[in-house]
Amino acid sequence: MRKILAIFVLLLILIQLIRPERTNPTTEPKETLHADPDVMKILKRSCYDCHSNETKWPWYSNIAPLSWSIISHVNDGRKALNFSHYVTIDPKIKEKRLKRLIKTTRNGMMPLPSYLWIHKDALVSSAEKERLEKWANSELKKLHSEK
Ligand code: HEC
Repeated sequence: MRKILAIFVLLLILIQLIRPERTNPTTEPKETLHADPDVMKILKRSCYDCHSNETKWPWYSNIAPLSWSIISHVNDGRKALNFSHYVTIDPKIKEKRLKRLIKTTRNGMMPLPSYLWIHKDALVSSAEKERLEKWANSELKKLHSEK
């Protein structure tokens, strides 16, 4: 039993050596999203940790294997939609993401449920969902009028 525990602890120590990088790339202010303050407040509170370059990395994102999962969520989240580059997103892709934004917030896929376990304040209320939806629809309208 002791041996198993010792091996387990050793493994835990060893995996700490595998450290994927936690990044917060710098952003051009011109490229970032500038929406109404009430929309920005919701997005910054509930989405920006994974969908911007302004991630607030929690202390436990230093500890493997948790760090691996958190860092890959942030990297994948940024790849899917990065508000820090909102202005430069290709209009066709932007249209898709905005539609998905409405759907995924409405059905509770976003923010990721595992994120909400710890970030309880990130839960998007029904009124906030409506506000995000209204904003996304106005962005979609803008895209269509630019075509
Ligand atoms: C804990 C990290 C995390 C948070 C917080 C988060 N997301 Fe995501 N989001 C992801 C990841 C990871 C993906 C990529 C999922 C995939 O590729 O399947 C994603 C994908 C998306 C997509 C693209 C989905 C698609 O199918 O095209 C949208 C839109 C999105 N998120 C919106 C939001 C919004 C809006 C919020 C806040 C209300 C939010 N997310 C909060 C991690 C997060």
